[in-house]
Amino acid sequence: PPPGWSLEADVVVVGSGVAGLTAALRCAAHGARTVVVTKARLDAGSTRWAQGGIAAALGEGDTPGQHLDDTLEAGAGLCDEAAVRTLVTEAPGAVRRLIASGARFDTSAATGRIALTREGGHHRDRIVHAGGDATGAEVSRALVEAVREQSIRTVENALVLDLLTDAEGRAAGVTLHVMGEGRHDGVGAVRAPAVVLATGGMGQVFAATTNPAVSTGDGVALALRAGAEVSDLEFVQFHPTVLYLGPDAEGQQPLISEAVRGEGAHLVDAAGVRFMQGAHPLAELAPRDIVAKGITRRAAEQGTDHMYLDGRHFGAPMWESRFPTILAACRAHGIDPVTDPVPVAPAAHYASGGIRTDLAGRTTVPGLYACGETACTGVHGANRLASNSLLEGLVFAEQIAERVAGQIAERASGPAGAAPGRASSRAAEPRSAAPSAGGPSGRGALLPPTARAEIQRTMSRGAGVLRSARSLTEAAERLAALTPSPDDKPAEPGVDTWETANLHLVAQVLVATALRREETRGCHWREDHPDRDDTAWRRHLVVSTPPGGH
Ligand code: SIN
Repeated sequence: PPPGWSLEADVVVVGSGVAGLTAALRCAAHGARTVVVTKARLDAGSTRWAQGGIAAALGEGDTPGQHLDDTLEAGAGLCDEAAVRTLVTEAPGAVRRLIASGARFDTSAATGRIALTREGGHHRDRIVHAGGDATGAEVSRALVEAVREQSIRTVENALVLDLLTDAEGRAAGVTLHVMGEGRHDGVGAVRAPAVVLATGGMGQVFAATTNPAVSTGDGVALALRAGAEVSDLEFVQFHPTVLYLGPDAEGQQPLISEAVRGEGAHLVDAAGVRFMQGAHPLAELAPRDIVAKGITRRAAEQGTDHMYLDGRHFGAPMWESRFPTILAACRAHGIDPVTDPVPVAPAAHYASGGIRTDLAGRTTVPGLYACGETACTGVHGANRLASNSLLEGLVFAEQIAERVAGQIAERASGPAGAAPGRASSRAAEPRSAAPSAGGPSGRGALLPPTARAEIQRTMSRGAGVLRSARSLTEAAERLAALTPSPDDKPAEPGVDTWETANLHLVAQVLVATALRREETRGCHWREDHPDRDDTAWRRHLVVSTPPGGH
């Protein structure tokens, strides 16, 4: 439907996690008229669930160079070194600027300086944390407060539908479906010459995930419909230690932070044997793809589907002070980490791939930027290093703000003299239609919400931690069968049906790229191609149109 209402801005930021709110704050600081639109409440995304922290070379003797080495090693040959260099060099300053924005991190009682811990793949203590194991909640609190203090305009409960473009194909805003926000209800648009996608991850494409219900790949789906390039979607990171709640557990699962292993907890099998010792020099603190594989292998050998994390030696005071969130989550499920080993299994955690960007956060569509989990900046390669994700959101959001400020200045002084905020003298149109009720094409017909569980189970079964040509082909066939036929009654447009269409679209692309990559690398583990193949596969799989698309 045509937009029923519209707002004008210099920049519209879609999403309100660490990446979106940092981009909004920095754009506003540059004087840009900024609007933030977000699918639920400002603090509803993944950021507030982040436990471990933010990686930055702040410790004595640590350097950005060592952080770079650890990031490249985890990324298994597919990181973009220039992007990683930007990430690690900017990291200490980005953390300090976050502190200046109001975030409060834990300090060491002995020195009064920021306390640093260690996580998988890091050879140094370099993880900044808050509230023990509630880093993301503190980051989210500080940024939401700062956005409110700056009176940055926000529209909540706003699901993004499609990109608007001008006659030259440049981004010109977004269309939105909004519920319960008064005069901005229904389908509307924010028109702006700069669009920043910071919509977060797509963990909900799998049955069991650490991601909240809102992580449905909306940004990647929009980018695909708009013809922007998407890269590395096959590299889904499965967090090794998620609280195991049974074989049929679905939806968001409680995370047991890697910092628990960083502080000395051990992974053991049912007999109490530490199985990561000898599997990697860093044992439990190996990069997380290796730990996830270690757990999956040992579980298969023993005919089970989970292992245990043993932190009983911490004692109650340490659990209570250092890991209060995790302690409460375990106890809520009847498990007491003070007295019992905690059952754990891998679950979908992080999309290392996403919308392809350059170092300034620019996508392949002019005026369209992406940052945070929805982006593929090149810093994660085939497997993200722990606690580089909040950091990536911070650093590249700042890079985007610089660029957007430049873009606005250029427009203000350009030959056309276009006033900032004017989308174009010619009408901005959606570049490609959002999924529609009547259009069962590869561009994404609306799907009934009942299809969501089928997509999730299909993906966990066929494209989970361990994949093969057979499992992926079966998944592809099941997903294709979910595409509505022209005879089906069209699904009603609504948040549920649009989200399900987005999940369906990103699932199809993910499976197609996972099937194409015939090797094992980072978090992409192929049973039928168990080795890394640098000759054929040290390259990225880039997609720019939906399956069966225009
Ligand atoms: C964790 O705390 O283990 C998660 C950290 C991350 O995903 O980077």
